[in-house]
Order: sequence, then structure tokens, then C-alpha cells
Amino acid sequence: MTFFIPEEKVLEIQNAADIIDIVSESVLLKRAGKNHVGLCPFHSEKTPSFTVNPEKQIFYCFGCTAGGNVFSFLMKHEGISFPEAARALARRYGIELPTGNISAAQKRVMSEREQILVANKHAVDCFSHALLSDSAGRKGLKYLSERGITGNTLERFGIGYAPEGWSNLMHHLARKGVPKKLLEKSGLVIENKQKNVFYDRFRNRIMFPIFNTGDQVIGFGGRVLDDSLPKYLNSPETPVYNKSRSLYGLNVTKQKCREKGLAFIVEGYMDLLALWQNGIENVVATLGTSLTSEHVRVLKGYAEKVILVYDSDDAGLKAAARSISIFDSGHLDSMILVLPEGYDPDSYVFEFGAEAFMKNAEKAIGPVDFLMESAIKKYGLSVEGKVRIVSAMKEHLAEIQDSVARSLYIKKMAEKLGIDDSAIMEKVRRAMNTKRSGSNAKSLLRREPGASDKRHKAWNGSATPTESYQMEKKIIAMMLQFPQVLSEIRRQEILSFFENGGLKKIGISILEHKGDSNRMVSDLIAIIDIPQERQLVASLAIEEGRWDIEGCLKLINKQFMASIKRKPSDLWMKIKEAEAQNDQEQLELLMQRLKDRKKIQNKLKFAGGKAL
Ligand code: CTP
Ligand code: MN
Repeated sequence: MTFFIPEEKVLEIQNAADIIDIVSESVLLKRAGKNHVGLCPFHSEKTPSFTVNPEKQIFYCFGCTAGGNVFSFLMKHEGISFPEAARALARRYGIELPTGNISAAQKRVMSEREQILVANKHAVDCFSHALLSDSAGRKGLKYLSERGITGNTLERFGIGYAPEGWSNLMHHLARKGVPKKLLEKSGLVIENKQKNVFYDRFRNRIMFPIFNTGDQVIGFGGRVLDDSLPKYLNSPETPVYNKSRSLYGLNVTKQKCREKGLAFIVEGYMDLLALWQNGIENVVATLGTSLTSEHVRVLKGYAEKVILVYDSDDAGLKAAARSISIFDSGHLDSMILVLPEGYDPDSYVFEFGAEAFMKNAEKAIGPVDFLMESAIKKYGLSVEGKVRIVSAMKEHLAEIQDSVARSLYIKKMAEKLGIDDSAIMEKVRRAMNTKRSGSNAKSLLRREPGASDKRHKAWNGSATPTESYQMEKKIIAMMLQFPQVLSEIRRQEILSFFENGGLKKIGISILEHKGDSNRMVSDLIAIIDIPQERQLVASLAIEEGRWDIEGCLKLINKQFMASIKRKPSDLWMKIKEAEAQNDQEQLELLMQRLKDRKKIQNKLKFAGGKAL
């Protein structure tokens, strides 16, 4: 798994990394006793069930059962492999890894994602060299300075220039040893299949690299220097670039978003740069695509509230309508701000300054209010107008999940229109009913994560967790949370009585663990390959249990051992079943278990139950 990251380096990384630090980069955490809790980045929820334990260096979500250590968090969150996660952490904690001379064989092993990231990094260097140090880039610099962009901004955002010509970048990448096969996969080079030739995607354009929050280059946008079309050309989706979750600028602005608890969302590269350069640094850009629920999931790790900035009423309206359900299910407060006619954030802030922009921002209103005011503006307050307004608003109001919020909006609207709120309520209810009957069909097909713990059960091998499974789980939880009990478990060979193979295996790994017991859970998670087992360990380790040695002994002796003594006859039932089905193999297995059980029971009888 760790291939060319030596084992001792992995250990060094694990010791240096702090899970609270790492998770905090993308999740707002609050302290709660021994744990820190926040809204889960892996499913959408309203109340925090995502739990991080700094002592054990693990996380677990009680809502969707995602769990693991700092490596698994990064792997899951960024969708990357173990070596990539290890590399990212090493970089962050200044731990040097032997990367310089990777052999050809190792290069083949390096994941495609990693190779694309390397190619992108070379591309950034190439473009920025062309802009800043090459005569070919002069017209690029001229264009940018005419648009008011300073050298500092260029540097901070890694902006560059792709010169004219069909193969500048391709040659540069070839010189850097990027395999030909990868050029097209990275989206930087296009293949003309008919002519069997390759050429640079970006030519004679200002280049804006798009980074992820870990400062890796995942894609590019390129702008022409004149009025030709297309104005912007973007990287296609690649294994490292997912448009619906990437936010331009967030790598630079995340700290400021955190500090302010607020993020402005703009549409374009230049909008973001203009605001940032004018001192409004808590801003991200969606790059022309509409905001998705994945964006919201990312953003809620950095801010509690967002203001969507649009350059026209029409764009604002569309966004407001969409954002009701997106933000409602994402649980992020949103406001809509439409700039005066004819301005986008870029042109506005350069003409009127940051202060004027912020004054405007104070006028931002929530999406429901925005839709309501727009409807009033559009239809007027005549009797007919009011009917139309209610009709236009009922669908939007029906989108609001929170019944209190919904009825407050209905009241407000009723007052504003001077009509009875029960009439509006009735219309909204009807809209909700039609919506629900439509979505019921969908919900049969789709399962929300965390809606069922089926995965656990499947792994457990039985539909209802048996009493012994519960008991064994409790013992593993105890072993994970209260290592003082391990010697007793060992002495009494408790694990040999376990029925569940998975739990038994986990128990054995716990007993075999060497070294710092604080690191035990995280170490275990690192060596477990099966995700369900990993999650189970995290969940059992993080559950709030209060253990003392007396209670532990009681659990072992009075409950567990006693339950073994009076083992129910489920085994006999299974034997009968196997007989009926003439399943010889199963029958032999069950008979062996019966024998084992007899042995155990004799042993218990012999011990007279006093020490046990
Ligand atoms: N966009 C795109 N492709 C296009 C046009 C737009 O990807 N052909 C995206 C870009 O990310 C762009 C954003 O949509 O920044 C907003 O588009 P637009 O408002 O047309 O451009 P501006 O950002 O205002 O660009 P500029 O100020 O450079 O003209
Ligand atoms: Mn613009």
C-alpha cells in the first residue's frame, strides 16, 4: 500500500499530523467534552454528528458511519489514494519524502491522479514563466495591467500566459518526463484522432490555475486577450478536476472566510481577483456553473453564511430559486445580492471601491425574500397581481423543509399582501403534496447514506444483531477505550469465546498492538483494509463510554461469561435447519461449534464461575 513511502516515514507523518488541524481545514469544529463535533462533510445534516477525537486521532460520523484516522479522512474527503494522502500530509508538516529519483517502475505505480497533478504543476510553471519572464508574455502582462491586476495578485494566484503556438506546453511537459499518454488525460493537450496529432488546448490565453484547498493544481481556465470567442476556455473534467465541487480561489481565501464566517460567491475569475485585490478577501468563484449542493458541502466547512453576488436580476432570480433547496438541505445561510444594472463585481469594485461594495452587501436579502420582492415588482399589488404572486411563490415556499421557517415566511407574505395567511397556507400545502407524491417514487430508488445501517449488518452476517454480537461489540469498545483491561482479556482468553469473526480479528489486533496506546486506534485503522471494519473500530472507539476497572470486570465476568454459560439453543435450530436441507458441510461446521461450546461450558463449570 505504501510502496515508495517507507514505513517509518508513514509513522513519522502519523505522529506529526494532528487530525483536528486537518479536519478543521474543511469542517467547522466545536469542542464538546473530549471530542470536537461538526457538520459531517460526507452527508448533509442539520445537527452535528461528525465527531473527532484528538486523543485517539480518529473521526466518526454517527449519521453516516464514516470513520477513520487522519489518512482515511483525507482519502475520503479529497477522493485520493493512501500515498497521495501521505504525501499531502508530509508536505504540510515539512516531512521530506524520497521523491527525487523515482524509478520507471515506481512511476508506473504512481496513480494517474498523482501524475496529472504533477503535469499540472509543470504547466503552471511553464505558463507563469511565459507571462513574467518571456517576451512572448508581454501582451499578456499588458492586458492584465490594463484590467488593474497587480503583480502581487498574479503571484498569489499563480496566473500565467499560454503563448501562441500549437505545442509549447506539450514540449515542456515532454522535457519534464510527463508520459505522452497522460497529456490528453490531463486535459492540457487535445488529440485529433483523425489526423493522429496532438496539440495544446490553451493557446494565446491568460491562464488561471484552479487549485484545490490543498494547494494542488487541478485544472485551468484561459481567457482570450480580445473579444474573440470563446472568451474563456476551461479544462475538461479529469480524474483530479470535478467542476461541481471545485471553487476557484478557496485555497487562498479559506482563512479569511473562516475569520469572517462569511463567504461571497461570485461567478468569474476576474470577479474574484478584483474583490480580493480590493481587500474583500473572503470570496470564492463558481466559474460560471451554478452552485451545486457539493459546493455548499465544501463551503460550510469555511463559513456559516454566504452571499451570492449576481450581475443581473435574472441571474439572481434563478440562483435564489435554486438556492432555497440547496441551502436548506446543506444548512448554510444564504443571501442574494444583485449589483446595479450593467455591473459585475469586477467592474463595480474597480469603479466604486470596496466600501461601496460592502454597503451594497448590507442590502443582501435571503432567497425567499428576494423571490417575493421580485414577484411584487413583476406583478404589482393589484388583486390580480396578488393572485399571481401567491401562485408564483407557493412552489418556493413548499421547498422549505423547516415548518417553522415556512410558516413564518407565509405570515410575512400574508402581511405584505394584506391577505389571510390561511389562504396562502392552503396553496402551499397543496404544492407540497404534489411534490411529495412525485418524490416518493424517487425515494424508493435512492438511499440516503446513513438511512440504514445495512452495511454493518451485512458484514455481521445476520439481519438482526444477536445478543452475543452486541456483547462482543461492547467488549471491543471497552478494549479500545480502556486499555487497562487488556491484560484481563488476555488472561481469560476472552476472545476465544467470540462468535463474530470480524470482531474477534479486531480484538486480536488490539492485543497485538505495540507502542503508544494513545495511538492504538489510529494504528489499527491504518492496517485494516475493509472499510466497514475500519468504520466499526472508529465508531466503537469514539462512543462515549465511562469505564473503570470494576465495571469492566463485571462486563467480562457477570455478563459475557454468564451469557456463554446459558447459551441459547439457536445452534440447535441451525442444526435442524441444516439437516432439513441436507447441507452436510454446514452440518459438520455446526456440530464442531456445538462441541467447542460444550468444552467451554465444561471449563466454566469447572471454574465454578467464581473467578470468571
Ligand atoms: N465562463 C466560461 N466560459 C465562457 C464564458 C464564461 O467558463 N465562455 C465562466 C468563466 O469562469 C467566467 C464566468 O463564467 O469567469 C463568468 O462569465 P462572464 O460574466 O461572461 O465573464 P467575466 O467573468 O465577466 O469575464 P471578464 O470580466 O474577463 O470579461
Ligand atoms: Mn467581468
